[in-house]
Amino acid sequence: MSKVLLINGSPNERGCTFTALTEIADTLSKNGVEPELLYLGKKPVAGCIDCGKCRQTGRCIFDDKVNEILEKLDEYDGIVVGSPVYYAGPSGQLCAFLDRLFYCSEARMAGKLAAAVVSCRRGGASAAFDRLNKYFGISNMHTVGSQYWNQVHGFTPDDVRKDGEGLQTMRTLAQNMAWLLKHMQAGNEQGIAPPQYEERIYTHFIYRPCLKNTQTLTALKNLSPPGRQAIPRRPGGFVVKTDSPARPAEASLPVQHISADGARGRFQFSIPGWGNATPAGRSRRRSAGRRMPPSKHGAV
Ligand SMILES: Cc1cc2nc3c(=O)[nH]c(=O)nc-3n(C[C@H](O)[C@H](O)[C@H](O)COP(=O)(O)O)c2cc1C
Repeated sequence: MSKVLLINGSPNERGCTFTALTEIADTLSKNGVEPELLYLGKKPVAGCIDCGKCRQTGRCIFDDKVNEILEKLDEYDGIVVGSPVYYAGPSGQLCAFLDRLFYCSEARMAGKLAAAVVSCRRGGASAAFDRLNKYFGISNMHTVGSQYWNQVHGFTPDDVRKDGEGLQTMRTLAQNMAWLLKHMQAGNEQGIAPPQYEERIYTHFIYRPCLKNTQTLTALKNLSPPGRQAIPRRPGGFVVKTDSPARPAEASLPVQHISADGARGRFQFSIPGWGNATPAGRSRRRSAGRRMPPSKHGAV
């Protein structure tokens, strides 16, 4: 049976957002999909501090519900994110949670269905809804629509229960999601393969060619921990050659902080002034037998 995670990003456990999510959960159940509700709670949620540790471990250094969900992420075929509207945006705690969840999960979100749901007293729903959809659009998720943008109106759950059109929008969304999940399941059974993505291209607005640096990547990709010794260690870092268009072919660049993560077969490195990078070819991963798109780290 397909499973959908519904995240309540409101501090009010049984408030307006919960009321909207419950309407979705009930409709999913009626349509043969298992819903699982996650309440983030009232305590502050840590934001991403860009420490980069998740690139090595796949987990967040803040050991909270983000890691709990990361452990179970592959169980979910779809994710619905619900938020109250705060000053025309999603709640701060939900954004903090999702920033870390999505940054940690890299390609693991790809192929899942997704939808955002917002609850407001009066205005700002559209802006908050747009903001939440940004997580899905950069993660190869398939965003599910409804008959209207997914919003309910209310200051109390009772208000929301009176918002007939809002609740119908939630039910329609859930019907669409359940229908699509059945199609995906049928497609899998028929052997329809998921997209085989190209190697990811990163074109930074300010040109930092570290991920286009094929010689560097080749050198680093082929390194095993003993092989690392082959790269001469110099004061200031390792030295590798580059064929980057922005640097002469014969240039040697000091690469600092090479770290190997044998468990995931990945290397990370940084070149002073270029920012951090993970060799793109090493970040491919298999999940549920599918070839997943490469990591997006360093280029959100
Ligand atoms: C800090 C804060 C900011 C809010 N900003 C807005 C807003 O911009 N627009 C709006 O219509 N309602 C706003 N509200 C009201 C809530 O979005 C609205 O009551 C929502 O349905 C509450 O959902 P909940 O019960 O799930 O927490 C705000 C509420 C709070 C606490």
